[in-house]
Amino acid sequence: MIKVGILGCGFMGRTHYNIYAKNSKAKIVALMDLDKGRRQGKWADQIGNLPAAWPKQVPMKGVASYGSVDDAIADPNVDLIDITLPTSVHADVAIKALQAGKHVLSEKPMALTHKDCLRIVKAAAKSKGYYMCAQCIRFWPQYAKIKELVDSGKYGKAKSACLKRLAPTPGYSKGNWLLAAGLSGGAVLDLHVHDIDFANYLFGKPKRVVASGTKGVSGGIDHIEALYDYGKDLLVMVEGGWSFPPEYPFQMVVNVRCEKATFEYVLRAGEGGSGFGNEVVVYPQKGKLRKITCKASDGWTEEINYFLDCIAKKRKPTIVTAKTSADSIAVAEAEIKSVATGKPVAVK
Ligand SMILES: NC(=O)c1ccc[n+]([C@@H]2O[C@H](COP(=O)([O-])OP(=O)(O)OC[C@H]3O[C@@H](n4cnc5c(N)ncnc54)[C@H](O)[C@@H]3O)[C@@H](O)[C@H]2O)c1
Repeated sequence: MIKVGILGCGFMGRTHYNIYAKNSKAKIVALMDLDKGRRQGKWADQIGNLPAAWPKQVPMKGVASYGSVDDAIADPNVDLIDITLPTSVHADVAIKALQAGKHVLSEKPMALTHKDCLRIVKAAAKSKGYYMCAQCIRFWPQYAKIKELVDSGKYGKAKSACLKRLAPTPGYSKGNWLLAAGLSGGAVLDLHVHDIDFANYLFGKPKRVVASGTKGVSGGIDHIEALYDYGKDLLVMVEGGWSFPPEYPFQMVVNVRCEKATFEYVLRAGEGGSGFGNEVVVYPQKGKLRKITCKASDGWTEEINYFLDCIAKKRKPTIVTAKTSADSIAVAEAEIKSVATGKPVAVK
């Protein structure tokens, strides 16, 4: 049994809680939050952009409740520290937990700066615990299917990709930390990083990026459009922004054109995947489209189940590594620099 301590009992902490609660390999043994009610499992408030599906009062028998990160990490009963805290503290908390020999699952983005990511990479290399950043899009069934189709080689080389993620301004975070770029990195690090990471997963790190963007309520760049240069005949466009009005439906889109077929998945919240449900649509260059039904699941469930499996089988995660997550932040930083300078920027 893998004993889990969840640090941060907000939207993502609760989402993770529900997933661990359904996995027979895991047992939640500790909750940590600065907010007393939250760490005591009083979760009646509605937060996040999904309908609340967590218990209004978490059963606390056998579950320790901590108000400090250090106390939670020091608990010898905890094997896995799950970090669902604001991004500004990800690096320090992950490093402390790794130094204590714990396994660490940290919400994305890995950290606010590439420099901090490299500190985590170093700590992870020295720890007996595994580290994984929760880059859930790599595990999202439709995205994973598209990656499988591209990698199969059956459809020829990839020629273009378009990745998009648009959302209303998030208003639910505790004290509105998401809307302070110094704490969240704004939409580039918080939202757009999902697609940066998926583009990296598909094609590797680009050599250079060129980006345009606009500032938003966070004080950082809250809407960005970037073009990636791989030094070969491949066009990749990635857009992300959270400056849309409250009723604008969250949407995520991925479209990859290979020589012999184009693959697409479109999700608009409340509209059930643009009429295609769980399906990825394959449009061959010749012949009729076909729909591939994917597993009825989500990236959060799949990533957590994968990480628990890695720990149980003593296999270091390979779908996401500390290095791949650090690479995604390197691309984000290059994009931000490109917006500021108006020039293409090489990726570190
Ligand atoms: N993968 C995804 O799809 C996804 C979606 C939303 C958020 N996230 C990520 O999850 C993380 C948490 O975001 P959220 O939406 O759950 O935010 P949230 O504000 O809902 O929750 C954060 C929780 O941490 C607590 N907290 C704040 N500072 C703390 C500190 N220093 N020590 C202890 N507790 C503290 C708050 O009281 C709050 O309960 C962020 O990194 C965010 O980017 C990921």
